[in-house]
Amino acid sequence: MFITLEGIEGSGKTTQIKNIVEFLENKGYDCVVTREPGGTKIGEKIRSILLDPENRDMEPVCELLLYCSDRVQHIKELINPALSEGKTIICDRFFDATLVYQGYARGLDIELITRLHKMTVAGLKPDITILLDLLPEIGLSRAWKQIDDGSRSGGETRFEKETLSFHRKIRAGYLDLARLEPKRFHIIDASKSENQVKQQIINALVLEIGVVE
Ligand code: TMP
Repeated sequence: MFITLEGIEGSGKTTQIKNIVEFLENKGYDCVVTREPGGTKIGEKIRSILLDPENRDMEPVCELLLYCSDRVQHIKELINPALSEGKTIICDRFFDATLVYQGYARGLDIELITRLHKMTVAGLKPDITILLDLLPEIGLSRAWKQIDDGSRSGGETRFEKETLSFHRKIRAGYLDLARLEPKRFHIIDASKSENQVKQQIINALVLEIGVVE
């Protein structure tokens, strides 16, 4: 099973991934937690280029191709082998992020992005996508609080430094994708407390995979 988490900056994905793993492992699932960009040795190097705030001049197409390169390595080296072994992958961001960040927000052609995904990784899709939705004003202020108190890396702030209108496009893009694929996406109200968000996610998982809580 392949589960992804998506959402704007500061939506609480990292915290909730821990809760998901705890829940699924208690039900006997063998979980592998990973992330994009990153997840492999090569991917982590690509990540540091992509998120470095000094790389503010990066061209959108350069950005797109780096995310695609990261994903090719990630799928071939980690995701596909783990799925073949019957493991459950829980991935912090995946292809939907490319559609939304490089497509909806940067303005690159969605068809080109989709074609690249099909050509490079056979269009691999998650089984379940948890979308942590909240206002960008709230998400960004949470993200900057974590950067300022050191719990998030200050060396990975290229996207946090984008404008509010950029982050509004991201949120709207995610909600659009969720509308287009209501069976795969579960929209979670991430403005609630950590426990309330956790409960909403568990309800969604119970519904999807049929385990009892
Ligand atoms: P995060 O690990 O804190 O979520 O940071 C990853 C950043 O990379 C985040 O701002 C979203 C961005 N991103 C893209 O722009 N395109 C992508 O395809 C992915 C996976 C992430």
